[in-house]
Amino acid sequence: MDYKLEIAKKISNMIEMETEKVLDLMEIPPQPNMGDYAFPCFQLAKVVRKAPNMIAKELAQKVEKDNIVEKAEAAGGYLNFFVNKEEFIKEVINQVLEQEDKYGSSDEGEGKTVLVEFSSPNIAKPFHIGHLVNTITGNAIEKIFKHLGYKTVKLNHIGDYGTQFGKLISAYKRWGNDEVIEKDPINELLKIYVKFHEEAEKDPSLEDEGRMYFKRLEEGEPEAVALWEKFRELSLKEFKKLYNDFNIEFDSYAGESFYSDKMPEVIEILKDKNLLKESSGAQIVDLEQFNLPPCIIIKSDGATIYATRDLAAAIYRKRTYDFHKSLYVVGNTQALHFKQVFSVLKLAGFDWADDCVHIGTSLVKFADRKLASRKGDVIYAKEVVDEAVEKTLEIINSKNPNLENKEDVARKVGMGAIIYTFLKNNMDRDIIFSWEDMLNFEGESGPYVLYSYVRGKSILKKAENININPDLSCLKTEDEFNLAKQLNFFNETVKQAAERYEPFVITRYVTDLAKAYNKFYNTHPILTADEEIRDARLALTKAVTTVLDTGLGLLGIQTPESM
Ligand code: ARG
Repeated sequence: MDYKLEIAKKISNMIEMETEKVLDLMEIPPQPNMGDYAFPCFQLAKVVRKAPNMIAKELAQKVEKDNIVEKAEAAGGYLNFFVNKEEFIKEVINQVLEQEDKYGSSDEGEGKTVLVEFSSPNIAKPFHIGHLVNTITGNAIEKIFKHLGYKTVKLNHIGDYGTQFGKLISAYKRWGNDEVIEKDPINELLKIYVKFHEEAEKDPSLEDEGRMYFKRLEEGEPEAVALWEKFRELSLKEFKKLYNDFNIEFDSYAGESFYSDKMPEVIEILKDKNLLKESSGAQIVDLEQFNLPPCIIIKSDGATIYATRDLAAAIYRKRTYDFHKSLYVVGNTQALHFKQVFSVLKLAGFDWADDCVHIGTSLVKFADRKLASRKGDVIYAKEVVDEAVEKTLEIINSKNPNLENKEDVARKVGMGAIIYTFLKNNMDRDIIFSWEDMLNFEGESGPYVLYSYVRGKSILKKAENININPDLSCLKTEDEFNLAKQLNFFNETVKQAAERYEPFVITRYVTDLAKAYNKFYNTHPILTADEEIRDARLALTKAVTTVLDTGLGLLGIQTPESM
């Protein structure tokens, strides 16, 4: 049963307002002693021309007690509802235990496809921490939409096209050593690429050579193509190791190069609609009506660019997947680029441009000492992950040295700590990276939530001879009611996270649920309580661990059995 909906229906029956509208207006009172749901009467007051507090008073008298509502009270212009606690607790716990990992899911997305483009690193370049933020955020967003019944497609728009690959081919032919490259592909390719630039400063003819190889690559000359493919394969192999660590799989790795032969059509479309203009030798689309700088489609040297490939990609994706929404999880620094691309699509008459959304991820700032990065300001994702796992292992070694599968647990907890940190706040804020906060088992952190989960699990493991159909009406304390309320709130939380494209809503939620469970655990005996109460509290514990597991799972955090 959906309590909010049932109460909204009751309200809707008493007044002239659709249930949907009532639902929209309903709030959660700021304090639990003010009730569980509130309906503000201010909007209604304008329609019926009565003071809001009068309306609230009149309605309160009309509400009858039943198995859903205990009572309703007027407080100023608000009509506050108190749910029937005993029924509520029973209903919620049973729902979770029945639905298990489907709890909080819905069918709102049935028949709709949501594309989530995320990660999108550049080949032969290091996978840096910004790409890791996009990877983790996109992964969570995909899981959230999937939970709501959408068909999701995970796209990795690999950066595998551009003049730099001509230079890399030239560098490889001069200094490439396969044996060394196989061992550490990305760093080695980066090294020879840097060397190319150093040498080109002394001998500018190298630049011409680079251009020549790029031209050959574009013309499909077999040797150049084979080398490019080799760089791509080696890079993808490295990236996939990281994806594997985070349990991420993509449905498509079609990157920029995939769209290069689809650009002429874009240019045709723009020409047809009279949108292309010449400006100092380049072809642009004017975006003044959107208050944006022009979008360059063809550079003055005839080369097409990043934006043109994105236009081709968007059109291709609409045709291929007929998406309901096409989401781009990419750093905030590219906000302007996406505004331009979506505006050009709109000008070209593609109404679905409005269904394209750039989800701009935040920058990572470091609160404590620099990471062990070899190169100044570029922080490699792999280093962060390795260090997090290592540090977690140290903590486990000091706290729980006899733990089984320590390495595996450290991996899950360490990576969970990173994910939590990246998804802790909304995307308007920078991500503050601090090892101390991140691995603090007592503060608001991944390990804290995981620890609460593991604690619940271990209680369940210790329990013996339990009644699996306990009498839940013996859960009578405020802490237990509060936990049931938290559990019930999961449904709305998932919806809100999707609506706002903000995984932090879920992070916040699992933290609150873990806190509420810890408070309950610290105040009330479970295993040592009277049998009836014990069994009911175990059922509650099971419901909490189930929802924690699901919530963490939506963030991409894996749960260990013990830690
Ligand atoms: N490869 C780009 C980068 O590393 C990100 C690509 C973003 N996606 C897109 N459709 N433009 O900055």
